[in-house]
Amino acid sequence: MSDRRAARRAEQLREEINGHDYRYYVLDEPAVPDAEYDRLMKELREIESAHPELVTADSPTQRVSGVASPGFAEVRHVIPMLSLNNGFTEEDLADFDRKVRERLESEGPIDYSATPKLDGLAISVLFRDGVYTRAATRGDGVTGEDVTANVATIRSVPRKLRGRPPAVLEVRGEVFLPYAGFEKMNRDAVARGDKQYVNPRNAASGSLRQLDPKITAQRPLDLNFYELGVVEGGAVPERHSELAGWLNSLGLRTGNENRRVRGVEGCLEYYRDIGARRLKLPFQIDGVVYKVDRRADQEKLGFVSRAPRWALAHKYPADEEMTLLEGVVFNVGRTGALTPAAKLKPVFVGGVTVSNATLHNMDEVARKGFRIGDTVVVRRAGDVIPEVVRYLPEKRPEDSREILMPANCPVCGSPVTRLEDQAVYKCTGGVLKCRAQRAEWIMHFAGRRALDIEGLGEKLIEQLVADETVTSPADLFDIDAKSLAERERMGEKSAQNVVDAITKSKKTTLPRLLYALGIPQVGESTAMALAQQFGTVEKLGVASPALIEETPDVGPIVARSVYEFFQSDLAQSVVARLKASGVTYEPISTEGRESLPLAGLAFVITGTLAGIQREPAEDALRELGAKVSGSVSKKTSYLVVGADAGSKRAKAQQLGVPILDEAALEMILKTKRPPPPA
Ligand code: IVH
Repeated sequence: MSDRRAARRAEQLREEINGHDYRYYVLDEPAVPDAEYDRLMKELREIESAHPELVTADSPTQRVSGVASPGFAEVRHVIPMLSLNNGFTEEDLADFDRKVRERLESEGPIDYSATPKLDGLAISVLFRDGVYTRAATRGDGVTGEDVTANVATIRSVPRKLRGRPPAVLEVRGEVFLPYAGFEKMNRDAVARGDKQYVNPRNAASGSLRQLDPKITAQRPLDLNFYELGVVEGGAVPERHSELAGWLNSLGLRTGNENRRVRGVEGCLEYYRDIGARRLKLPFQIDGVVYKVDRRADQEKLGFVSRAPRWALAHKYPADEEMTLLEGVVFNVGRTGALTPAAKLKPVFVGGVTVSNATLHNMDEVARKGFRIGDTVVVRRAGDVIPEVVRYLPEKRPEDSREILMPANCPVCGSPVTRLEDQAVYKCTGGVLKCRAQRAEWIMHFAGRRALDIEGLGEKLIEQLVADETVTSPADLFDIDAKSLAERERMGEKSAQNVVDAITKSKKTTLPRLLYALGIPQVGESTAMALAQQFGTVEKLGVASPALIEETPDVGPIVARSVYEFFQSDLAQSVVARLKASGVTYEPISTEGRESLPLAGLAFVITGTLAGIQREPAEDALRELGAKVSGSVSKKTSYLVVGADAGSKRAKAQQLGVPILDEAALEMILKTKRPPPPA
């Protein structure tokens, strides 16, 4: 790059970064994802290191980001609150370790103290003679804001330390908002008609920096300590890995994921371990921090500009990125529902390249205000389906376009209607006209929880439906291996495997078969209830709506839907042909279920369970006679919550439904008894 261009670009970057800092630190309203901010900083640092004469004293690279906002008294940090250098790859880590070893002239591997990198805001808390005296935000690293009254409202911050603390003890740590508290805050915000917070860190920052500590007190903030500031009149541990135990003994929280590790290998093992559990942790982290364990070594290593040489923040791949919303397509589901999906300019996020993301429904699109052409923030956390979170108003182009529901089905051309009072738009073609609905129907029929036909995947089903080899589930049983093998990308062996799997699926159970038929409104639990009530498809097929309604937990709407399904010519022919093809199910014993230990109880499971997978847990509960459903209602007997439980927990609390944790669930499954009354 020419000197002139480098100078111009550096100036541009500084201006942009300063703008982002202002929005992030002062307004608590970040404009861009962290990953984008990191890139801008990296580019500026690279330009400055290639052209050192361009470095200005006020460049964002020369200071710790942040500013103290007016309204709070200023606090000067006697020991500046600095930042951490970031590493993203194993090479970055190896580089860091090599430099540490060189500077320490160490022969063997280095001991590091490793901790999760909480994504909150840094805070300094001062205790004099063991008494809580003052708390301050980081601010620009040298001058922070006095938030003594606010931090005092955080329950895990003691008023008085235990044991024998030094006369002056300044501890530093991270104020954060656990996910559960964050979700609650956003639910409350929605209820009040206020704007939601973008992420837990923002919500934490906004909560702490309230001029009225009464507001802070209502926010479920937490604090973990990880570092020391000024200490006078007392000895401190020689190793960082002993710091946590020492702070705990004084009554200060440090979190319980701190470990001492050895060398690069040890660091990586820790990084992977935390990474695997990252999304199950009750709080947001964006990486792990390694610190040279010996305090004496830390002192030898010292600092450069804004960060210590003895520490590294090893970040996980960003789970939020920005990209372009290039278009919207509408997918047609089994019941004809049209759901909008974003076509994105491919972007690497959460460890994979994403080019499609769900937009949920048109109400959501309207609420979020997306338009085609927008620059949007895409989020992909763990294995969760990628989502478009928000758009950046300042990047909206002049020619952005509104997202419109088409008047006709994009697949079959039938008119699209909106169901009254619902966010759902539907293709009116039905499975007879609409190829997309047909394919979804077959997919559902072959699915794991239905007839479980292995090897009959989406691609193959789409082909079979497209050339009309298959127009209903019954056609599957007429497929022969020879004609299947003649297809593209199908070997003889895999064709035979598919046919074998289809044959094997003929032996099934009545609940599976009823579920597989894809009767509108009939999920797994209803299929189970209907199977128990009627015992055969034939009996259900001729039942009147009134008779169907006698099934436990089946109301008039579901009863009518079941009745209408079996009245249709299509259903009747499918059922007859399935039977003729040899689809059979074990006779179901309808007696004796009332005497099962969990008979009459209805369970809902939400959130991630750590020990047992959700589906086997649900099956085990059903086997004990319980009903298991997906949504909490007045009829729910118990809600079982795992990690990251969201709105269902709130609903249960509202309705007074008892809440069980995973341990209680395990106990039920082990003892085969309902939980004892609370
Ligand atoms: S130590 C001199 N330790 O990350 C070292 N910081 O990027 C300065 N953070 O401002 C900080 N977990 O808000 C340290 N275990 C940890 C941390 C941590 C999270 C945050 C903190 C800091 C930022 C630096």
